[in-house]
Amino acid sequence: MKYYLQCVQCNHITPDFKAWFAQNQVCPVCGNKHSEAWYEDDPNYTKLPALLEDADTYKGVFKNTFWRYFDYLPLRDSTHVVSLNEGAVPIEQWAFLEDYARSQYHIDLQVYVCRNDLNGGTGTFKDIAASLAASVLRENGVEQYCVASTGNTATAYGRYLALAGINASIFIPEDALQVSEASISAYGQQALRAHGDYAKAKEIAGQYAQKYQVLISTGNIDPLRVEAKKTMVFEWLRQLKRIPDVYIQAVSGGTGPIAVDKGMREVQKHKNYAALQMPRLIMVQPDGCDPMTTAWETAQKQGFQDGFEKQYPIIPNPQTSIPTLATGNPATYPIVAKLVQKTNGAFLRMHERKLADYGKLVAFERNVLLGPASAVCVAGFFESLQKGLLHNGEMVLLNIGEGIGRAPDFLNQLKATSSLIDSVEQCKPHTKSALRQALWQAIQN
Ligand SMILES: Cc1ncc(COP(=O)(O)O)c(C=O)c1O
Ligand SMILES: [Zn+2]
Repeated sequence: MKYYLQCVQCNHITPDFKAWFAQNQVCPVCGNKHSEAWYEDDPNYTKLPALLEDADTYKGVFKNTFWRYFDYLPLRDSTHVVSLNEGAVPIEQWAFLEDYARSQYHIDLQVYVCRNDLNGGTGTFKDIAASLAASVLRENGVEQYCVASTGNTATAYGRYLALAGINASIFIPEDALQVSEASISAYGQQALRAHGDYAKAKEIAGQYAQKYQVLISTGNIDPLRVEAKKTMVFEWLRQLKRIPDVYIQAVSGGTGPIAVDKGMREVQKHKNYAALQMPRLIMVQPDGCDPMTTAWETAQKQGFQDGFEKQYPIIPNPQTSIPTLATGNPATYPIVAKLVQKTNGAFLRMHERKLADYGKLVAFERNVLLGPASAVCVAGFFESLQKGLLHNGEMVLLNIGEGIGRAPDFLNQLKATSSLIDSVEQCKPHTKSALRQALWQAIQN
């Protein structure tokens, strides 16, 4: 009824989340953890075109959230929805990036950004996953839950599960931001900071789940996360009326690209969208934690031999200034690398020492304060241009995954002009244009 879960390895069908939770979130036949939700009430997505009309013409109650796609989300009863106005965030055209591509590289691009910093829950693109998870857990009478996260999933789950009246134990690594820990516990949830890296936090979370028989989020392939984030693709069609040629995202665990692939396979079920192609996936990692990029570069040098996706380094205790992206053991690389290869995409690296320069430029040009993981994505755009990965006439979409609220310390690094003064003699009127030049120079150096 409405939806079912299907094992990606052996196709075994689990009727719903109640059964899925009861069988410990694995396929009872082959033991695989990766199952996908599908929608038996409307397998050909006949209602999708109407849902992709503008918000004003859609009469649903949830028109300003990703819940407008309720028909294609694995929740049975809409009264169980736990929502804080997430998803359905604006996709904006950023002309200053188009101008740069034209003047420096002589190519015409359309550059759009998805403003996930405007999500109502915690201002990150993890809010939709937390909203769906909280709703489904509530629908299934779950009272205790746990999750390990580098920071943004942690805060989002903390808040949404609190709203749903569900007790959450949230495991974060030693280097997670203080504000992540604070917001989890402020909402009344249990924040557990592991002595060690994200892998250590995950390990303890797994042991905790077993010891107390508490449900645990199964990570980047968790159907609760994937089903929420796949609506990114629906939103592209609703707002852009097409699929972009290129999708750029900072990557850590890989839920984003996995969800884009799922969303594409869903829309392709409708005849209007059957011919649509995946965008090229450009995945960006900071040089402080770049195991996927390193693996990709090695594979590229070796000509992508059979099974290349199974070779990747593990970085213990990654030293990065962006704790959100500190997945040193990229267990989903085999899945994500195949998707990137299939779409002719790439994994790139950006230099963390320049992170604030990207933040300053965007704050100046667009009046938007990026969180650090978003600055990584913007850096990926510049890196893509430099490597010749973007072509004339293409539409490029950047996932601005978080705002400054997630990392207030990063704001301190965005100071561009302040001076200490004793008297008015030291002050004179300000012209922004000189600053603009300096900010652009910093990016190009
Ligand atoms: C703002 C932001 N961008 C990007 C990512 C990477 O997401 P994923 O690799 O799971 O797609 C995260 C995840 O922690 C994030 O919070
Ligand atoms: Zn199976």
